[in-house]
Amino acid sequence: MEKLSMATAIFCAVAVAVLAAAVGGEAAVVEHTFVVHEMNQTHLCNTTKIYVVNGQLPGPTIDVTDGDTVVVHVKNHLPHGLTIHWHGVRQIMSCWSDGAGFVTECPIPPGGEHTYRFNVTGQVGTLWWHAHVTCLRATVAGALVIRPKGNKYPFPTPAKDVPIIIGEWWELDLVELDRRMHDGNFDDNPLSATINGKLGDLSNCSGVPEESFVLDVARGETYLLRIINTALFSEYYFKVAGHTLTVVGADGNYLTPYKTDMVTVAPGEAIDVLMVADAKPAHYHMVALANQPPEPDPQIPGFVSRGLVRYAGVPNNNNGMPVPTPLMPNQHNTMPSFYFHNNLTGLAHPDRHRVPMHVDERLFVTLGLGSICRNGSKTSCKRRRSNETIVVATMNNVSFHHPTKASLLESYYDGKPNKTLYTEDFPDNPPHPYNYTDRALIPPGPLEEALEPTFKSTKLRRFKYNASIEIVFQSTALLQSDSNPMHLHGYDFFVLAQGIGNFNPRTDPKKFNYHNPQLRNTVQVPRTGWAAVRFIADNPGVWYLHCHFEFHIIMGMATAFIVENGPTPETSLPPPPPEFKRCGANGLTRP
Ligand code: C2O
Repeated sequence: MEKLSMATAIFCAVAVAVLAAAVGGEAAVVEHTFVVHEMNQTHLCNTTKIYVVNGQLPGPTIDVTDGDTVVVHVKNHLPHGLTIHWHGVRQIMSCWSDGAGFVTECPIPPGGEHTYRFNVTGQVGTLWWHAHVTCLRATVAGALVIRPKGNKYPFPTPAKDVPIIIGEWWELDLVELDRRMHDGNFDDNPLSATINGKLGDLSNCSGVPEESFVLDVARGETYLLRIINTALFSEYYFKVAGHTLTVVGADGNYLTPYKTDMVTVAPGEAIDVLMVADAKPAHYHMVALANQPPEPDPQIPGFVSRGLVRYAGVPNNNNGMPVPTPLMPNQHNTMPSFYFHNNLTGLAHPDRHRVPMHVDERLFVTLGLGSICRNGSKTSCKRRRSNETIVVATMNNVSFHHPTKASLLESYYDGKPNKTLYTEDFPDNPPHPYNYTDRALIPPGPLEEALEPTFKSTKLRRFKYNASIEIVFQSTALLQSDSNPMHLHGYDFFVLAQGIGNFNPRTDPKKFNYHNPQLRNTVQVPRTGWAAVRFIADNPGVWYLHCHFEFHIIMGMATAFIVENGPTPETSLPPPPPEFKRCGANGLTRP
């Protein structure tokens, strides 16, 4: 990017907060301009072209207060189409601003711009934003911090709060990565994990270590770490040597304080933790380590980034003492993730939503892989990792076909659903039951062959306004035994229970927590396990539901929910705002 436009970008990045009324700090309009552009960055002795917002990696933090209105003007200086999704923002009656490419809008074309406008009422904590086309979100992402009114936290007010964004460094062009994954090619990997864009000193090139993220602390102070996983590929374990962490929130909702020495964060999750700088003044390492299922699952390299916590007044050489490093679990042990997620509960407070006790619509959704024939034939090709097939991902054995020319929301809203764009028959159950978590389903099998054939289709599911929905997600071992961080746009759901193995509809509902379940927008469905969630369909629109592992979403582990309007104008989706650009207005198809 040339100097002039960079200066403009930095100038525009300054947020303008306008107090709405003379009543003093009631609700503000917080305005940002995001210039999305290409930039060169050098890591591990190589200079790579990356995609960033306002010259920053990670992107700028949006910092607002509960009740504020957020306005973001996005200027697309990329040679690709672009949308920005406000991950976790409920978008009540503002589905048009959700920013899901080809679900709620067609991408902003190269050279184009678009204004997103929404409010953040009733949400407090950490959310984030990211590009929602191809793999651009690996670098086009940042934190969205929502503070409580009057800065009143249900815990001691932290001295400082710090986004800890765990991501990946990719040398491969992200649009090319998307193209290869669409083609069923999954051999590409990032070169390293990152913490706030830094690869950390465990990565080096010709003996020169990469820079580490450094957190400067003062003894006795409390820090609120907002840990967000923006990675395309992996769930991470996060620890700080010599310090205990207290989890106090996740996905923009408070949690019952939970003390732990390790946090687990899956792609799409945002976990708020308090860290008291109460150790002996010195330097301490923090580590983010990716986990993955053991063989026979396909293996990726181990990813790690190491940062530093540095107490004020301690010299750079840490007084000649070695810097303690946290002891991490084995990267192939995924059970700490299950225990971590299973130990979290919601914090009871007066204006908290009630858990729905009745269920109108019950879905049991299996998550796994499958294959389609390269020759286009429905049935006849060689399976079992043969190159006659393309490996895809499925929900209830349907692999989502992402629209590439029109948006689902517009098509639905215009009331003449084009049957070639989508149908409304997403199944409530898998086509037939089997032993979902049988490890003999992982190649070399031999059980997978009968179960892996599938097909691509854009199947949605429609719900009546105010229906109470229960979904039990079941991770399977079909072709691989990954966990699945499932993310629903436009909603928070209560996580009633999770377990390892096959969900048992007779006995497992007895374990449901109706008292203080966590309220989340992303549920990490455990590896070879299940998770049960409930929510009330009170926000009309078309809402994407997908796994937040990028390869899973690209492979088709996705669907969308249509939520109908309620009986009144207040319970109905308003028409698109004046700044909304209809598909075709910009003539854009797949970037
Ligand atoms: Cu961060 Cu569709 O998601």
